[in-house]
Amino acid sequence: MENIISMKNVRKDFKENTALKNLTFNIKEGEVFGFLGPSGAGKTTTIKLLTSQLTPTSGEVKVFGQDVYANKKEIFKSIGILSDTSGMYDRLSVLDNLMLFANIYGVPKKDVLEVLELVGMTEDIKKEAKKLSKGMKQRLMIARAVLHKPKLLFLDEPTSSLDPGTTLEIHKLLKKLNKEGSTIFLTTHNMIEADKLCDRVAFLNAGEIVDVGNPEALKLKYTNENIKVILKDKNEEIMIKNNSEGASKIKAWIEQGKLLAIHSMEPSLEKIFLNLTGREL
Ligand SMILES: Nc1ncnc2c1ncn2[C@@H]1O[C@H](COP(=O)(O)OP(=O)(O)O)[C@@H](O)[C@H]1O
Ligand SMILES: [Mg+2]
Repeated sequence: MENIISMKNVRKDFKENTALKNLTFNIKEGEVFGFLGPSGAGKTTTIKLLTSQLTPTSGEVKVFGQDVYANKKEIFKSIGILSDTSGMYDRLSVLDNLMLFANIYGVPKKDVLEVLELVGMTEDIKKEAKKLSKGMKQRLMIARAVLHKPKLLFLDEPTSSLDPGTTLEIHKLLKKLNKEGSTIFLTTHNMIEADKLCDRVAFLNAGEIVDVGNPEALKLKYTNENIKVILKDKNEEIMIKNNSEGASKIKAWIEQGKLLAIHSMEPSLEKIFLNLTGREL
């Protein structure tokens, strides 16, 4: 299968400030891909390059196998974007807000009602946008982003200003959208969110990808040196080095019938990021 997104040696300078140094990565159809990094890492700049809102200083940016800038209009029809700057008309109802965009995209009302059902807002179509809770507002913005059934969805920190309960609700919605066929490119500084939602994540630090992979695979790759062992006659945990010396200790405990439990020590994505970059999110 061809790549839905591919970036090759992409650099982006803003005058003397280099936002992205040399980005190379691919995303396949159906993936939920997480772009992780602290504020200022270059996440939004990457989304803007992929959605032709910015042009790169150098390098290749392709979406659906086509150069983004040469096929701007065509690509725009098949992508949906959610960013923190996308606003709603406060005094219009939920339905009217969506109809405004539906008319631009040529989406029939019946499809708008379907999307409202998808995001769980059928009961709220007459509500004024300003009367919606934060979570409902975000669902409405997502509804707008998926109104024209885009194959590819860009979400720039979709849960960054939401409380845990509302975040959970948005996660469920994103999983549902992915199941229905949307490929999702998501930025976040929330490692737990990335771990839960993403098929693959890229760690972005100061305009560079420091590693990319499946969350579980990354945890195994950076699993630390120690193995936690609990013995039957002791209540404490013992840390054993993952080497031959450690192995003979464990072997002996097993033979003596002393071993109660062995735990692997997988690091969290947060820990891995910290180790790779020396900084927290
Ligand atoms: N329009 C711009 N002009 C100048 N510098 C910018 C502009 N947009 C972003 N930057 C800089 O590029 C870097 C990456 O920004 P951004 O992509 O917004 O990061 P993130 O979304 O990860 O927080 C930051 O240092 C930021 O100040
Ligand atoms: Mg940003």
